[in-house]
Order: sequence, then C-alpha cells, then structure tokens
Amino acid sequence: MKRVITYGTFDLLHQGHINILKRAKALGDYLIVGVTGEDYDISRGKLNVSQSLTERIENVKSTGLADLIIVEEYMGQKVRDIKKYNVDIFVIGSDWLGKFDYLKDFCEVVYLERTKGISSTDLRNSANDILRLGVVGNGRIAKRFVKESKYVSGINVDYVFGRNEEHLKEFITQLDLNSYYTDYDKFLAQVDAVYIAIPHIMHYEYAKKALQVGKHVLCEKPMTLSKKQTEELFKIANDGGLIIQEAIKTAYAPCFDKLISMAQSGIIGEIKDIDATFTKLIKDKTLREYKSALGGGSLTELGSYPLFIIAKLLGTEPINIEYVTSIDKETKVDIMTKVILKYKHSVGTANVGIGIKKEGNCIISGTEGYIYVPAPWWKTEYFEVRFEDLNKVQKVFLNFDDDGLRYEIADFLNAININKKSYKMNEQESIFLADILENFRANKNVNYIL
Ligand code: CTP
Repeated sequence: MKRVITYGTFDLLHQGHINILKRAKALGDYLIVGVTGEDYDISRGKLNVSQSLTERIENVKSTGLADLIIVEEYMGQKVRDIKKYNVDIFVIGSDWLGKFDYLKDFCEVVYLERTKGISSTDLRNSANDILRLGVVGNGRIAKRFVKESKYVSGINVDYVFGRNEEHLKEFITQLDLNSYYTDYDKFLAQVDAVYIAIPHIMHYEYAKKALQVGKHVLCEKPMTLSKKQTEELFKIANDGGLIIQEAIKTAYAPCFDKLISMAQSGIIGEIKDIDATFTKLIKDKTLREYKSALGGGSLTELGSYPLFIIAKLLGTEPINIEYVTSIDKETKVDIMTKVILKYKHSVGTANVGIGIKKEGNCIISGTEGYIYVPAPWWKTEYFEVRFEDLNKVQKVFLNFDDDGLRYEIADFLNAININKKSYKMNEQESIFLADILENFRANKNVNYIL
C-alpha cells in the first residue's frame, strides 16, 4: 500500500485545496492530511486564520478524500509523521517549491502545481474590505506599529497625522506610507480606524474626535488618566457600534492568552497572590517619561502592564488600593511606585520604576502551585507552572515575534470584522486602569518614601 501525506491550514476550503487533495490521493492508496493547529499557525506568523481547528478539520473531512486526518502542532513534526505512518510520498503545492527537499531523506517529495487564482488569503480579504488605518503620532512606538502592521493581512496603514511636517515627511518616506496630514479632520476622512500613539494626556481628545466621526480606535496605554474620560470614550463607541481597544501589547500575545486560561483553569488552585514588575531605567530626564505636564512618571508609563494582569486574574473590584512611591525632586515625577491591591481573598502587587532596576518577572501564586513568568514577562513567550513536586512542572512556550504589536493589530482587526468586542482587553479593565492612575495622581492613599 502506497501512503501519501500532505499538510495545510485548509481555512475556508476552496477549489485549490480540493484539487491538491484529489491529486495527492491519486498518487497512492492511502491519504493522510495534516491540518495545522492554532498555536502552530500563530507561531509561524499566520495570524488571520478565520476558522477554528475543528472547522478546518471538518473542511478536510467533507472532501471525503482523507483516510486519516492529523493535527500538525510544531515545526519538525513532518519528519516524525513520515516515519510514524510509513509514508511513501510527501505532497505539497508548488508555492513551497524546494522548501521541503530535506524530506527526500525519508520519502519521495512531490510538488504539485498550485491552482491559479485562488487562496484562503484572497477569500479572507474579499469577505471583509481592507481596513484603512491611520496613525496618530509619529514617535517611536508609531514607527514600530507601522512595521508590525505589515504582518497582518486585511489592513493597510497609509496615512499618518502629526504636527511637525519635517518629521512627518521623514516618517512616510522611511515607512513607505502614502501621505501625512497636519489637519486631523482631513486625516480622519481618509481612514476607517486610527491608532493613537501620542502623549497620554492627549489620548482622550483625539480618540473622542475619531469616535464621533465613526472611526474605530486602537489607543496606546494608558487610554486616559481619568475614569470618567475612559467611560465616556467607551460610551461613544458602544452607542456608535464602534470598537475601541487599549493597546497593551501583552494582552494580545498568544502565550499570555494561554497563561491566563491556564491560571483560570484552576491548575494552581485558588489564586492568592500576584506579583508583577516592570522597570525601565531611563537616565535622560529631558524625555517625555520625566515630564509631569505630559503625564510622565513610572506608574503612568509602565503601570498598565502589571496592573492589567492583576485585573485580569483578580478582577476589577479590589477592596483597598494603596500606593508606595518615590518622587524625583527635580522633575516631580515618580521614579518608582508599588501598588498594592487588596481583594477579599487575594492580593496583587504591581511594581514599576523608571529610576530603579528590578527583576522584571511575574509570579502568580495559588493554593496548589504557582506560575512563573521570567523577565521580560510582558513580552510573554515562556512560562512555567510549578508545584511542590518538582517533577510536575509544566513549561509552555509560544512565540512573541519582534515587537509583538502584530497580535494586538490582528485582534483589533478581527473585533472590527466580526463586530464583537475583544475578550483580551475589555472595557472594565480599561476603566479600572484609568481609575488607579487617576487616584494616584490625586494623591489618594499614597505613601511617600524619601
Ligand atoms: N494550494 C493549492 N492551490 C491553491 C491554494 C492552496 O494547491 N490555490 C495547496 C497549498 O500549496 C498547500 C495546500 O493547498 O499544499 C494547503 O494550503 P493552505 O495553506 O491551506 O491554502 P492557501 O489558500 O494557500 O492558504 P493561505 O492563503 O492562508 O496561505
């Protein structure tokens, strides 16, 4: 019996898939089809797959051509499958020509001509119009955002808004954008959605204007420094059927998503304590981070990350919030702050600093064990679930590619396309974060160390 194997995502089953499966089957007597698992697709940068793994397996099943369907979960699995299933022929489309020659050591490798004019990517794009997204701001993060957006299909970033024409010109040339605007209304008229990456204190005004003219908003963290303002932005968005999301990149990272679901599954028992730290030592006091008038300081700059994981796992209704902080005499901003959030059954501590350095890890402790995320935990790609019995430790790894902004962009796009708010970073969490920052700035329950 001749055994043939082929692999694919098989998203939105199309004629190209059916043709290759038919021709692969015709090369032997038994056809094995490997369908890519969700984690594997994410780890190889395929972020826009529309259908779930179950649906995609059903797609392959419905062709009636596969004798066996398996799931491809990791790079390098093909060699194992070929040996395990005694495969004679490996088949793949001609778009992969040469890429799988290394399998010739194990079986025959056949590249079949790809069916012209159709692909899952085209189908996904034609189901939804390409989202035209404009960037508000031309600073460091805006640059990274534009670069990362190239990894997400279904979105075009062509315009940037800012004030300084010279900087804007440089920005569009460097990043290959269409044009820039210094007039916000004209800029808004060109786009369906905006990404706001300007100093915190300006977020509210620019996000509000965009929402009022029917544009979706992805807003850098912190969305605002006021509970009321954040509530208002969500209200305008909700009333207008628009999406507004806070761009805390950690929230959208595939490994972080897994971490949250594992923690919530009860694997470490009842969560009692979270300790999360983010420090970024900044020496240059002329930078925005040290400008009190622009909302600078450790907590406003970095607090969103550790506070977010605490909110995600312990909730948004602590009984008591207390701050311990140290203020820089010269600039009047906090150079380190500790926020202690006391809940009925648990406690969370967020540590941040632009004037101190500390191990940037996160530890989630429960009654049965703990989850350890090494520094830099906010670029989550690895964590361990540890128990008293060292033999039981579980290690989880999932890529966090480059700057990791592609995951938040993909999630934002998906929320718009399916018209459903993301569960990864929600309204209550954004309002909660704004409230914590606002109370700190209003000096509520703040203890000072000199
Ligand atoms: N394939 C093909 N002809 C097409 C599309 C795909 O022969 N027009 C083949 C691929 O070469 C691969 C298999 O079908 O061997 C599964 O491909 P998959 O990646 O699932 O399909 P694509 O349409 O290429 O998906 P995407 O656009 O997401 O890359």
